[in-house]
Amino acid sequence: MRDLSLHLLDLAENSLRAGAGRISLQLTLGADGALDVVLEDDGCGMEQGLARRAADPFATTRTTRRVGLGLPLAAANAEKTGGYLTLDSVPGQGTKVHIRLMTRHVDCLPLGDLPQTMVSLILTHPEHPDFVLDLHSPRGQARFDTGEIRRVLGPEVGLQEPEVMNYIQHLLTEQCQMVFGGLIS
Ligand SMILES: Nc1ncnc2c1ncn2[C@@H]1O[C@H](COP(=O)(O)OP(=O)(O)OP(=O)(O)O)[C@@H](O)[C@H]1O
Ligand SMILES: [Mg+2]
Repeated sequence: MRDLSLHLLDLAENSLRAGAGRISLQLTLGADGALDVVLEDDGCGMEQGLARRAADPFATTRTTRRVGLGLPLAAANAEKTGGYLTLDSVPGQGTKVHIRLMTRHVDCLPLGDLPQTMVSLILTHPEHPDFVLDLHSPRGQARFDTGEIRRVLGPEVGLQEPEVMNYIQHLLTEQCQMVFGGLIS
């Protein structure tokens, strides 16, 4: 993977496949350069056995196509920086993936285009689910929630309308710049 945003796209695709009604992403950058990325969904969840295998890259190489590479690759990229990936999943309730990365480590992937990743997710799933993005850094915080935008727009106007997507793209770009601009690449 070229950047963290592509990992997040892959993880969000897992949540979409799990039938999530709400997918929330929280990115918190500490003063020491540690970045905590937490993705939570209310999808179908995983049995304990699968959750354990899914997070473990070594287990994955031994299973034949039952378990993919999205989670192990994200875990490997976190571990390269001295971080980790943990997975908490409850069948029927949802899944939480926590990725910790040390952004000052030379092997840390760049963040990539997070606004564009969110826009692609929303554009390809304009009706459902809701996407939430929470950004925190020593500089400030910002929150984006398609649920709130839907409530403001009312039932007549869809998120996929060009003017709405344009607004969303600008809002997300501004929020990422405000919270992370110059702090992480
Ligand atoms: N959020 C989630 N909710 C429910 N099950 C999940 C979730 N994330 C992963 N899984 C389960 O774990 C498996 C492994 O996920 P992973 O992303 O590593 O691979 P994949 O999605 O199967 O394939 P790839 O990501 O390589 O296309 C998935 O096939 C799915 O069964
Ligand atoms: Mg996947």
